[in-house]
Amino acid sequence: MTEKTTDYGRLCVGEKEELFARAVALTAAQQARATSKNFTLALTGGLTPLEWYDWCVRTRALPPALLAATHFTVSDERHVPLVSEESNFGHAARRLLDPLAVPSEQRHPWPVRLSPSEAAEAYRRAWAALVGPGRAYDVCFLGLGDDAHTASIFPGSPLLSAGSSDFFVALDTSKGPRLTITPAGLRACDLIIIKTLGPAKAPALKRIFSGPYDPLKTPAQILKTCAARVVWLVDKAAAKDI
Ligand code: 6PG
Repeated sequence: MTEKTTDYGRLCVGEKEELFARAVALTAAQQARATSKNFTLALTGGLTPLEWYDWCVRTRALPPALLAATHFTVSDERHVPLVSEESNFGHAARRLLDPLAVPSEQRHPWPVRLSPSEAAEAYRRAWAALVGPGRAYDVCFLGLGDDAHTASIFPGSPLLSAGSSDFFVALDTSKGPRLTITPAGLRACDLIIIKTLGPAKAPALKRIFSGPYDPLKTPAQILKTCAARVVWLVDKAAAKDI
């Protein structure tokens, strides 16, 4: 694995299983030094995490002490039932939390039974009660879209211009109603790990690391504002142009 510091965070390039293991090691190290009332890990959506979930279950790589201490959520969610194949928390529950017998009191899905705005408000309240004011996640996993979006912050998102002091919001997007962490929320995370795998991500990574700074068009560039706490885990196919 090669590593270097960039304007957008620490860039680690390696083989998939090295990257999977590094995600566990970084999370476990963060939990070991955490002083927060409840240690929290936000998983993310899309398909990239699924391979990592299956690898964690197969290898039992997540230490028991970490599993016992961690409160799990997702950094963004589609407004669909948890049983849906579109549900980010639903995927995490079926592919990671259930096989590893994570108890329900350590699971914090967005309350998608409510309307989007009510779900965001209820999630904000519940999260502040769990971790205290001014804090988002101890560790926040993110993915990267082929269009350089991250979480549910898409190109042209109002979250990239008008901004929001809220850490968690509901908003309409081109992909339907979404529930998501905001740029302010990302800046309230202690560690952000963005896993980016596969050749389809190469153009987005090139725009992020080599293109002009324009978060409105290249949303993942917002991570420049919290680069000291960002780690990119990228395979060689995705990293070929950076
Ligand atoms: C979502 C995600 C989204 C995802 C990227 C990458 O809800 O879709 O949170 O930001 O991480 O679109 O998705 P893939 O891993 O499927 O490429």
